Amino acid sequence: MPHKILEKTRLNSVMWKIVLEAPLVAKSARCGQFVIVKIDEKGERIPLTINDFDLKKGTITIIFQEVGTTTKRFGCLKKGDSVKDLLGPLGRPTDFGEAGKIILIAGGVGIAEILPIAKYAKNNANFVLTIIGSRSKELLILEEELKKYSDKLIVTTNDGSYGLKGLVIEPLRDTLAKEQFDLSYCVGPDIMMKAVSEVTKACNLKTFVSLDANMVDATGMCATCRVTVGGKTKFVCVDGPEFDGHLVDWDRFIKRQKRFVDEEKRSLELFKSQHKECIYRGGEDG
Ligand code: FES
Repeated sequence: MPHKILEKTRLNSVMWKIVLEAPLVAKSARCGQFVIVKIDEKGERIPLTINDFDLKKGTITIIFQEVGTTTKRFGCLKKGDSVKDLLGPLGRPTDFGEAGKIILIAGGVGIAEILPIAKYAKNNANFVLTIIGSRSKELLILEEELKKYSDKLIVTTNDGSYGLKGLVIEPLRDTLAKEQFDLSYCVGPDIMMKAVSEVTKACNLKTFVSLDANMVDATGMCATCRVTVGGKTKFVCVDGPEFDGHLVDWDRFIKRQKRFVDEEKRSLELFKSQHKECIYRGGEDG
């Protein structure tokens, strides 16, 4: 069933915020869940976190980064266009409830995914310290929105163009050396979630990570999204996307995530060469 794009906003050179008409998904969506989007008949199915939902309007908001051909094609759609299929809400909702003092860590487009978690944490009477990081100021998103749900917000950029210079791991280490927390939650690049999990494991701080894996059926049947957690095989689509970061077999997961890198690169280059109108050259569009 087609789902109309009601709003489309460019957040920076590679990220979009899209509001989709999806009354049935909005009706049952909960924090931490995701949808599978299929842009057209022949399109690949991509999992995207539900960033927000509005029951009254019957809409969901998703924020994504153009990383491959499908997300690039999604970014080329206009307000008023529709996506072919939307499946969801999927995955297990967040349920840590009132945990006490929580430290949230997010990087890149993971900042979009940490926003509903921060909102959930605050609404459940937790103290929330949030650390977000991006490569540069231009790529940093949702700082003001996160301030609303964080008792303290620390921002880092790799190039030092805004906030502290460096990676999120440095202020995380400093903070944990000074203060005790009851829970941490991390979303971002796999390598960042692995590093954060190592730091929090050393101080025995329970850590949830939200994994983003390649998916096909999203029903636990095809095994595309499998991950080893605590020595057991799990599926991100039905058992996740949240897992205990200390138990994830990161090396195996990261290796699996790289399986189609060459094909994806070739596909993206071909798409770009055929759709020059979709290449961002600055300014307003969408
Ligand atoms: Fe097929 Fe998860 S996508 S098992």
